[in-house]
Amino acid sequence: MPFSKNILCIGAGYVGGPTMAMIAHKCPHYKVTVVDINPKRIAEWNFDDLPIYEPGLDKIVTSTRGKNLFFSTEIERGIKEAEIIFVSVNTPVKTFGAGAGMAADLQYWEKTARQILKYSESSKIIVEKSTFPVRTAFAMERILSLTENDIHFDVLSNPEFLAEGTAIKDLEYPDRVLLGSRETPSGVKARDELVKIYASWVPKERIITSNIWSSELSKLVANAFLAQRISSINSFTALCEKTEADITEVARAIGMDSRLGNKFLNSSLGWGGSCFKKDILNLVYLCRNYGLSKEADYWEGVVRINEYQKERFVLNMVSAMFNTLVSKKICLFGFAFKANTSDTRESPAIFISKRLLDEKAELVITDPKALDNAMTDLDGIDGKISYIEDPYEASDGCDAIAVMTEWEIYKSLDFEKIYRSMVKPAFIFDGRNILDHKGLFDIGFNVFPIGKPVLTHF
Ligand code: UDX
Ligand code: UDX
Repeated sequence: MPFSKNILCIGAGYVGGPTMAMIAHKCPHYKVTVVDINPKRIAEWNFDDLPIYEPGLDKIVTSTRGKNLFFSTEIERGIKEAEIIFVSVNTPVKTFGAGAGMAADLQYWEKTARQILKYSESSKIIVEKSTFPVRTAFAMERILSLTENDIHFDVLSNPEFLAEGTAIKDLEYPDRVLLGSRETPSGVKARDELVKIYASWVPKERIITSNIWSSELSKLVANAFLAQRISSINSFTALCEKTEADITEVARAIGMDSRLGNKFLNSSLGWGGSCFKKDILNLVYLCRNYGLSKEADYWEGVVRINEYQKERFVLNMVSAMFNTLVSKKICLFGFAFKANTSDTRESPAIFISKRLLDEKAELVITDPKALDNAMTDLDGIDGKISYIEDPYEASDGCDAIAVMTEWEIYKSLDFEKIYRSMVKPAFIFDGRNILDHKGLFDIGFNVFPIGKPVLTHF
C-alpha cells in the first residue's frame, strides 16, 4: 500500500524520536522519517539499544521501524521527499556574544531552515516542534521565502509538551495538542493537515488552534509556570526546616484547593532538565529586549531560587557533617534530572557533585540508567569519583547517602543492610523526600529530609 503522506523530522533527540515514533504508530498510512546530522545517534535508533531511555518507547519503535518509521542520515533526500517537515533540533542557551547565558542559540535552527530551502523541490508544511523564542516563525518564513521558484512554505508552531520519563503516555494521551498558524487560506489548510494527523488518536476537543505567536509563547509560559510552582514550594522548605512545619503536609493542604491543584508540588533539591532554565531565561531575555525589566526580574527569580535551593542542599550537608566533608565518602543515589530517564541535562546532581568535590569529598555515584551520561558530565573534573550501578555496593563504606533522583527502586532497598556497611555516624540527605524517614532513623541513620524536621541521634 503506498503511503498517503511523507513526514520528515529533522532532529532525532528526546523530542523528535519519541514524537515521530508515536505518529508512525498511530498513523500507519503515513511514512515517517527521522533524520539527524549525528550518524551515531541514527545508528543507535536503528539498533535494539535506543539512544534514550523512555518507558514504553522501545515497544513502539520496534513495532514500526522498517515499516513506516525510518531513521536516516540522508537529510537532503528526506527533505526532497517530504510534504510535512517537523523541526526538532536543539535550541540551547547561547554561550557567546549578545545574550550569552540567556538567549536561545538559533544557529541549528537557521541552518536547518536553509537546508530545507536548498533541497526543496516542492511546497511544504514546516512545523516548529522545538521550543523557540516567540516570533521565530517570522524569521523562518523570511528565510524560506528566499526561494526563486514558486515553491511555498507554510510555517506552523506545534510545541511539544511531553515530559521525559512519561513521554509515551504524554504523547498518547496529551492534555492538549496546540497548533499555531497564520490565518491565511494556506495557513489554515496546513493547520488542517496537522489536525488530521493528531485526530487519528487525540480527541478533537483536545486539539486546539491559535495564532502562531500565541502558540510559540504558550510553550515558554507553560514551562515558566511549571518551574515557578516547584520554585514556590521549594522557597518554603527552609522556613519549614526552621519552624518544624512539614512541607509535605503543607503541600497536601494547599494542593486540595481545587484552584491550585495537587500536581508539581513535590519539594526537591531543585528542578532540572533541558527545558525549564533555558526557557525561562529565554523569556527573561525577551522581556528585557522589549524593555520589560520588572517582568524579567520576576521570572528570573524563579531560576535564582532554584540555584539557591541546590546550594542550600550542599550547605546543609556540610553543616550536618560537622562542617567538613574532606575525604568523606558520599554516595549519590541517582544522577538523572528526574526518575525514569537517562537524561542528565541540567540535573541538580551535576551542581551538587561539583560542589561536594569542591569541599574535597569523595563521590560514589549510582543510577540505574544515567551512569554513562554522569561520566560525561563530570569528565575532566578534579576529584575522586566512582560510578557503581548497584546501590548496595555503591554505598558500602560511605559516610553519607544523598538522594538526587526519585527512582522507585530506592524506596524498597534493604536499608538495614546498607546501614551496616556504612561508616558511622551514617547520614542520609533525602533530596526528593521519597524515603521512609522515621524507619531510617530507627535503623540508626541521621536523616535530613527537605523541608521537614531532621531526625538525628545527637
Ligand atoms: C528538544 C527541542 O528541540 C528543544 O527546543 C526543546 O526545548 C527540548 O526538546 P531535544 O529533543 O531534547 O530538544 O534535543 P536533543 O536530544 O539534543 O535533540 C536534538 C537533535 O537534533 C540532536 O540529535 C542533534 O544531533 C540534532 N540536530 C541538531 C540536527 O539534526 N541538525 C542540526 O543542525 C542540529
Ligand atoms: C518539562 C515539562 O513538564 C514539559 O511539559 C515540557 O515539554 C518540557 O519540560 P521535563 O523537563 O521533561 O518536562 O520534566 P518535568 O517532569 O517537568 O520535571 C522537571 C524537573 O522538575 C525535574 O528535575 C523534576 O524532578 C522536578 N520536579 C518536578 C520537582 O522537583 N517537583 C515536582 O513536583 C515536579
